[in-house]
Amino acid sequence: MYNHKKIIIGLMVFVLLISAPFLLNIGKAGESPELSLDTMVINQMDDKHCVEAVDFMRTDHPRLLSDWRDSAVREGRNIYVSTSGETFAMNLENSCLRCHSNREQFCDACHNYTGVQPYCWDCHDAGKGAVKK
Ligand code: HEC
Ligand code: HEC
Ligand code: HEC
Repeated sequence: MYNHKKIIIGLMVFVLLISAPFLLNIGKAGESPELSLDTMVINQMDDKHCVEAVDFMRTDHPRLLSDWRDSAVREGRNIYVSTSGETFAMNLENSCLRCHSNREQFCDACHNYTGVQPYCWDCHDAGKGAVKK
């Protein structure tokens, strides 16, 4: 009986130890770093909003950008009409970075945090307003 107790307690400790990393991670999954929206263009907006709903932007901006690139470069279509009917130039610098002109405190902050390194900046240069030639 005494030994059984020991074994059971031992097992419980073991289970706790191997699941600790997972237990400690609960609540961290959907977390994001400090993101600054403090830019001149955003500060001037009465109704501060992105191209699409913020939840959609959070998860789907890579796909949106890749659609924009295909439309602009391959099909020559330059205007995006959002779900709410607002129009935006399909342009990385003149749209995204016009509002999010603080790339380091916004795009880069989140990408560094999540370990993503978009290669876009090799050619698209924030602030220059045009693709580097
Ligand atoms: C008209 C200004 C404007 C444009 C253009 C714009 N954004 Fe935003 N964006 C915002 C604002 C304001 C927010 C915060 C909205 C909120 O919190 O409801 C935001 C939020 C976001 C978020 C979510 C951040 C978070 O809280 O997790 C992402 C990601 C994002 N934008 C990426 C982009 C990308 C990529 C583009 C270009 C395709 C873009 N934005 C274009 C103004 C803009
Ligand atoms: C809330 C966090 C967050 C913010 C803010 C954010 N990103 Fe991202 N971004 C991610 C994550 C996470 C991924 C990778 C996951 C995925 O591909 O779905 C990603 C992927 C991308 C990719 C695809 C990279 C590749 O190599 O496939 C592009 C392009 C991109 N982001 C552009 C931007 C731009 C431009 C901004 C600022 C205007 C921005 N992101 C802001 C989190 C963010
Ligand atoms: C090898 C250089 C290069 C890389 C890397 C690159 N692009 Fe581009 N991109 C271009 C060129 C060149 C154009 C055409 C510019 C023009 O028509 O004025 C362009 C056009 C675009 C456009 C449409 C218009 C504009 O200037 O914004 C989008 C959107 C775009 N790229 C998004 C991206 C995204 C997102 C990434 C990263 C996932 C990326 N690009 C990586 C060179 C590049």
